[in-house]
Parts: sequence; C-alpha cells; structure tokens
Amino acid sequence: MALPLRTSSYLHSFRASKETPTDTRTSPPPTKALKFPPRLGPLFWPWEKVKIGPLSVSPMGFGTWAWGNQLLWGYEEDMNNELQETFNLAVDNGINLFDTADSYGTGRLNGQSERLLGQFIREFPGDKRTRDSITIATKFAAYPWRLTPEQFVKACKSSLDRLQIEQIGIGQLHWSTANYAPLQELALWDGLVAMYEKGLVRAVGVSNYGPKQLVKIHDYLKSRGVPLCSAQVQYSLLSMGRDQMELKALCDSLGICLISYSPLGLGMLTGKYTISRLPRGPRGLLFCQILPGLEPLLSSLGEIAQRRGKTIPQVAINWCICKGTVPIPGVKSVKQAKENLCALGWRLSSDEIDELESAAMESPRRMIQNIFQTR
Ligand SMILES: NC(=O)c1ccc[n+]([C@@H]2O[C@H](COP(=O)([O-])OP(=O)(O)OC[C@H]3O[C@@H](n4cnc5c(N)ncnc54)[C@H](OP(=O)(O)O)[C@@H]3O)[C@@H](O)[C@H]2O)c1
Repeated sequence: MALPLRTSSYLHSFRASKETPTDTRTSPPPTKALKFPPRLGPLFWPWEKVKIGPLSVSPMGFGTWAWGNQLLWGYEEDMNNELQETFNLAVDNGINLFDTADSYGTGRLNGQSERLLGQFIREFPGDKRTRDSITIATKFAAYPWRLTPEQFVKACKSSLDRLQIEQIGIGQLHWSTANYAPLQELALWDGLVAMYEKGLVRAVGVSNYGPKQLVKIHDYLKSRGVPLCSAQVQYSLLSMGRDQMELKALCDSLGICLISYSPLGLGMLTGKYTISRLPRGPRGLLFCQILPGLEPLLSSLGEIAQRRGKTIPQVAINWCICKGTVPIPGVKSVKQAKENLCALGWRLSSDEIDELESAAMESPRRMIQNIFQTR
C-alpha cells in the first residue's frame, strides 16, 4: 500500500466523520459538510503515469506551499474548506502527488501544509483505493541545528505525525548546504539513508541541487544502497536556463525524475497579473521587476492558448510536461485546480514549444533562483 494511514486514529477519525464532532487532535474546528467534487473526465491514460522509483504518480502533482503561508500567499484558516475541496477534486481526478515541506507555514502555522494534507487524506470521501494511491512528497529543511542523521530521522517522524501516515512517499532534502556549510552536507545525506533504511520513506529525493552536487549525492547514496529517485528544481518558461537543461539531461541519464516547481512563475505565467495589477506582499515587489519584460512570452502563451481553446496557465504547465518533467503547480482554490487539471490530456506541438521558448528568450528577465540552489 502506498499510503498506510495510522490505523487506530484513522478508525477513530472515520467513526467521527460519520458521527460528530470530528477528530480535533490536530484538525481545525469542525467545518461545513463538503460537497463531493465533480469528475472532469479522464485526464490522462494509465500509461502516462510517471515512475518515481517504486512509486507511480500522475503526470502532474499539486504544490501546497501556500497552505499555511500568510506572508507570501495570504493564507487564512477560513480557506481550509476550500482547500479541502480543492484536494478532493484533484484526487478524484487522478492527481496522486502532493508536494509539501516541514518548513511550510508561517509563524505559529509552521507545519500547517503537512497538517492540512494529513487531515484531507483522512477525510477524503472517495474510495479507499484512490486514497491509498496518494503520494506525499515532503521536504526536510537543512536547518543549521540539524547536524546529525538522527536529527533528520526525528524531523521525518515529526512530519509523519503531522501527516498522520505511516510512511512518506518521497522524502526530499529541501536544499543542499554545500554553498555555506559543506560539513553539514554529509549529515543530510546520511539522514536520508537512515530514513530510507528505517522504512519511514518509500523513496528519496533532493531539491535545489544543481548538476554537480546531484552527481555527488547520487553516487554517495548509491554506495549506501539507496536509489536517488527525484530532483526538484525551479523549472518553467521563466526558469529554463542552461543549468535546468543540464540537470534534466543528467536526470534522464541517471533515471531520476525531475519535478518542476513554480511552473507558473509564482503566478506570473497565468496572465492575470500586470504591472498595474500586482499581488499583495513580497510577490508584488518581485513581479514589478520581471513583468515589464514579459510581453513577448505572455503574448505567445495567450495566442497558443486561444488557438487551442486552452488557458494561459494550462499552456505553461503543459510545456513543463512536454519537457519530460512532472510539474507541481501551487493551487489555492477549486477554480484554479479545475483549470490546472485541464493542462492534462493533450500535448503542445514541437512548433508551439519552439515558439514559446523563443518568446521566453526574448523576454529580458528571468525568475530569480532560489538562494540555496547549488551548481
Ligand atoms: N523546493 C523548493 O524550494 C520549492 C520552492 C518553491 C515551490 N516549491 C513547490 O512547488 C509548488 C508550486 O510552486 P509555487 O507555488 O511556488 O508557484 P507556481 O506553481 O508557479 O504558482 C502558484 C500560484 O499561482 C496562482 N495560480 C495557480 N493556478 C492558477 C490559475 N489556474 N489561475 C490563476 N492563478 C493561478 C496561485 O496564486 P495566486 O492566486 O495568489 O496568484 C498559486 O498559488 C509549491 O507549492 C511547492 O510545493 C518548492
């Protein structure tokens, strides 16, 4: 079974969901009854599922950074009902990969993304087989106080507690410390080995590793008998430089799945933001640096979307899929999830891909890279 739930508390929660009140161990207060979301129809064929080590995941996952983040994403707890419907809609339409991290959630909401996912999995109203196929990919922060493998194992156990499951699908290192604390790096790697050997994670992955560092960790893990299954990196039409291309080629040669994060450029590739219509907070500051040069790319996305009867975000996500990656767009509402789900079930032509990439090259600005990204 891909997602063993904690049995005793699961039964408790199941009983509680039939009666009232609901399990309040880690959940927010009882919420209104959720509608069972509609099925949008078959969005991909079974053979389009992607192998990540022993796991088989949908060609697109959803990212949950916003679920608990007030500062950047304007999260409020009264969004939880909608997020739960968003989750249900996604799972019922075949999405079985959800990306999160132990550092997601701001201030007192630290860990909220994992907690919400845990709650939503347990309360998923669909069939058990569908729920059991859900793969949670979480990331462990390389905090400076996590200096030993045991501390990573402890972090993994805390994530399991928040998620209320017995085993994590993909345990990923959130970033490498090679740039600023190279001596800590081996503890991170041994932490991954220990989690894997203890059966706390089914597969291991990394995030924000560049090609050089990826080869090093791949070889080290291999020497310890642990396969490296995934590499998560910022990858989109706004982040498609030489490093991303090199990393993708390397992943292909090593049998590692490349997971593309921020495939919508934090929202800039949805077409809804302009220099006079910016999101609140730090994103607005970033967007006003980048958006003025994005005209060629946004026009190209818009033209292709119109010709195809698709929308701009669907084209931007589809590009990531066509490049052989598994995108994990962030979603905050049922409307966004519905729209992004329809990025599946079709493919851009090679001419359209070329058109988009030339337009992206014409745009003078790119996304800034994660400060922890290594070479
Ligand atoms: N490994 C790492 O270091 C790392 C770093 C970043 C992200 N990630 C992962 O990757 C996931 C995705 O990246 P991201 O969330 O940074 O950015 P993203 O996927 O590029 O953008 C997501 C945002 O775009 C907007 N949006 C999404 N679909 C839309 C639609 N159909 N129409 C209009 N607006 C839409 C939403 O924000 P608004 O409605 O507020 O505009 C949403 O939160 C994250 O959730 C996280 O799991 C990992």
